[in-house]
Amino acid sequence: MVEVEKALYAHVQSRYPYVTEAASHLLDAGGKRFRPLLVLLAAEAGPHPLAEEVLTAACVVEITHVGSLYHDDVMDEAALRRGADSANARWDNHVAILTGDFLFARSSELTAQLGPDAVRIQAETFSRLVEGQILETVPPGPGEDPLAHYLEVVAGKTGSLIATSARYGARFGGASAEVEEALTAYGEIVGSAFQLSDDILDIASDSAESGKTPGTDLREGVPTLPVLMARASSDPADARLHELLDADLSDDALHAEALGLLRAHPALDEARRYVVGRAAEAKALLSVLPEGPVRAALEAFADAVAVRSA
Ligand code: IPE
Ligand code: IPE
Ligand code: MG
Ligand code: MG
Repeated sequence: MVEVEKALYAHVQSRYPYVTEAASHLLDAGGKRFRPLLVLLAAEAGPHPLAEEVLTAACVVEITHVGSLYHDDVMDEAALRRGADSANARWDNHVAILTGDFLFARSSELTAQLGPDAVRIQAETFSRLVEGQILETVPPGPGEDPLAHYLEVVAGKTGSLIATSARYGARFGGASAEVEEALTAYGEIVGSAFQLSDDILDIASDSAESGKTPGTDLREGVPTLPVLMARASSDPADARLHELLDADLSDDALHAEALGLLRAHPALDEARRYVVGRAAEAKALLSVLPEGPVRAALEAFADAVAVRSA
């Protein structure tokens, strides 16, 4: 990860200092480096986990991710990211969007070093990520189950890139096709669980923990897992919460009231139990790996996602 960190900075350099400054802003701000970590971990399932391509793939997924954060904060009108000002808050939407584009271009350039099949995978992954982000802005169709619609959004916007992180790791570490396939499926589920945990944190945690503004999804009217579960309740005591969830929560007082009611609502624990269940599903896919430290680490990784606090 120390090598990945150095390489990431090298890859976002531009010949123009202003572009370098904007492109390294969110790298500087921090972040968990969850996706490159998964690449390195999955690479341990193969015979050459320290191959140069593994390092390159780790940078590809993080730079793609960071680019998507620049754009996400524009669409979510978020002012805080990784404990720092978002790029749209620090500069403006134009800078944030173009810097995101610059990062996507850089990650494409890097992916080319991994060969045409990696480029195809990266392109498919990116299509799914963008489709997920677009689908999030569209309400479920008539008769469509809102939870099913939402899980599709989550698999697209977050599961796709985390699945590819596991896939690249397995592939460039030299694992068998069977292991690559199982780890891809594992990454898809872990990635969805990761996003669902993030949704729970949007309600349950404060900005000192998350580095983001709590209740951002709520304010933007993004119906996340705990909100969908609270909506599904028929308890008459939930009437006020249901009313608030249908209201415009850009009003600070209404937003605070809704956040308070959700924090105390059993849907929060119901959502947590659901995420733990998904992590168990992901771990079951690891049976293709021999028992040992690599499998144990991937199991622990899935568990950590289910109970993450930041
Ligand atoms: C944030 O991702 C966006 C989601 C897909 C949930 P991370 O939680 O991985 O953000 P960083 O990289 O640690 O900042
Ligand atoms: C981010 O989703 C997904 C991508 C960047 C593709 P969110 O909007 O839910 O994540 P946060 O809460 O801003 O990190
Ligand atoms: Mg967001
Ligand atoms: Mg978003």
